[in-house]
Amino acid sequence: MCGIVGYVGPRKVVPVVLEGLRRLEYRGYDSAGVVYLQDGALVKYRAEGKLINLENRIGDAIVAPSHLGLGHTRWATHGAPTEKNAHPHSDCTGDLVVVHNGIIENYHSLREDLKAKGHIFNSETDTEVLAHLIEEHLSDDLVAAVKAALKEVEGSFALGVLWAKAPDMLVAARNQSPLVLGVSDDQGSFMASDIPALLPYTDQVVFLDDMELAVIRENSYSVQSLLTGEEVDKVVQFIEWNAAMAEKAGYKHFMLKEIYEQPQAITNTLSGRINAETGEVSIPELNLQGADFDKIDRIFLVACGTSWHAALVAKYWIEKYANIPVDVDIASEFRYRHLLINERVMTIAISQSGETADTLAGIRIAKKMGSKVVTICNVVGSTMTRESDGTVYTHAGPEIGVASTKAFTAQLAALFLFTIYVAQQKKTISKEKGVELGRALIGISSVIEKELPRIQDQISRLIESFYDARDFLFVGRGLSFPIALEGALKLKEISYIHAEGYASGELKHGPIALIDKDMPILALVPQDDVYQKSISNVEEIKARLGRLILIGTEGDTHLQNITDDIIYMPNVHEDMNPIMYTIPAQLLSYEIATRRGCDVDQPRNLAKSVTVE
Ligand code: F6R
Repeated sequence: MCGIVGYVGPRKVVPVVLEGLRRLEYRGYDSAGVVYLQDGALVKYRAEGKLINLENRIGDAIVAPSHLGLGHTRWATHGAPTEKNAHPHSDCTGDLVVVHNGIIENYHSLREDLKAKGHIFNSETDTEVLAHLIEEHLSDDLVAAVKAALKEVEGSFALGVLWAKAPDMLVAARNQSPLVLGVSDDQGSFMASDIPALLPYTDQVVFLDDMELAVIRENSYSVQSLLTGEEVDKVVQFIEWNAAMAEKAGYKHFMLKEIYEQPQAITNTLSGRINAETGEVSIPELNLQGADFDKIDRIFLVACGTSWHAALVAKYWIEKYANIPVDVDIASEFRYRHLLINERVMTIAISQSGETADTLAGIRIAKKMGSKVVTICNVVGSTMTRESDGTVYTHAGPEIGVASTKAFTAQLAALFLFTIYVAQQKKTISKEKGVELGRALIGISSVIEKELPRIQDQISRLIESFYDARDFLFVGRGLSFPIALEGALKLKEISYIHAEGYASGELKHGPIALIDKDMPILALVPQDDVYQKSISNVEEIKARLGRLILIGTEGDTHLQNITDDIIYMPNVHEDMNPIMYTIPAQLLSYEIATRRGCDVDQPRNLAKSVTVE
């Protein structure tokens, strides 16, 4: 999982590449590098740590008169995050460089062979093998050499190659790691791991598919198949996001900005898909309707991390309203277990990025077994959307903070929309119920918008007594259980506090042993159909002197008998509670992490898009 940027065109290359890397830093940030061509020779800068270290090292060279170059921001897989392991990596001559995202699985044997042929290696990375392997095949045709080298490679790659002796072009190639070209009439040509790097210059992109190679020049690009060598006619797609959408807009962190963008993200996700009067839902991109659903006996929801929590919520909704049994799987488990899937099973991948390696592998397996595959995804044109039979896009806009926030609530909105749609198509809900559910969903954005500042204000005061905790528990029942899991994940990933989420009813089966006067426990206790049960569980915690924080329904004065630390939520439709109660869970994590001085947008050891296994 790393970020790649390449540029050839009329602009000076170093600022273009650095700006692109800044926009991709969420993909990895343990080291970075750039290389550019000047006076026939390659100039390379690399630095350990965040991009700012690289920028300091480049200094005045930022204005170098060069118009061709590559950059990379790294998230280490092979070799420690040091300068010598930072990309770009060079061949023996220093005239050829490679930047790479992915894993070369047979790098060890390739490296030994190349060493035996006299190649000298300077890093511990799998990527350096690529530079030497291309060199081994190179006489005067770079494209032919890259193709020959890639024939010997096993694994995943998105790569950019620059050769000083081919001074007007860059070569790109992709297999199982994302790569997109940016094209334009007057700005030159680009390659990048993700769209935000291209947004300041162009909204026209070409997505590379697996086993494709591209050559980009200032005014042209071409794509060919690595398998057949034949030219591929690619479609240029227009991206609706603009550059400002990927900026902080006055917020201190992308995470906070994205928390505040949630009402808009949900509205965008619903826009044009639901009729407020009739409650009727239409999702044409799903490519499924009416009788198609009669052929579905079971649904598998497959996802990782936060997206998996969205799946857990959706199981409750789909089973309740669409009357279809749902299995929820963590993608890294799903892909390796004995699956009972056939053409009567629908598999739904949930993914912000549409590139997560485990989820992608999962849907490929399901598809092979005859399942219909649908993806709930935020990134238009991403690999999962291209490989699925149908897609429901969440129109949350670019999510830059590594911890997912607006993508999650937009996923919930899309999944509830999907639930209503299936229930309407299968006629498992009445017309009136459709209207009720549709209105509840449409209405949630404005409630969140109104309540956000108050919730943040209350939480910022409340965390003063909790921010230095060593451990934290989150508990909830029913629809609140997945939100407890999500709250715990958010807190641990950005504040490094050990946090666990539990179904409240499970506490007495073990975790209750952890509770004492030093243990903060955030309990989600909306007045829903399991309210009384939740309150009993909270009383059990109180009896063990746990430090309770309650998130409950406005007007529920009973909560004041239990603790003083209460955040009240407006009384929304019961099915909207997961969306509503996510907001305080996110803000609690954000406030605690910033109070502890943590880097909330780029937490240690994490990357936004996990495109390796
Ligand atoms: C946590 C987080 C991750 C992602 C997970 C899946 O805040 O962002 O757990 O949810 O890596 O990513 P996508 O949704 O892109 O497949």
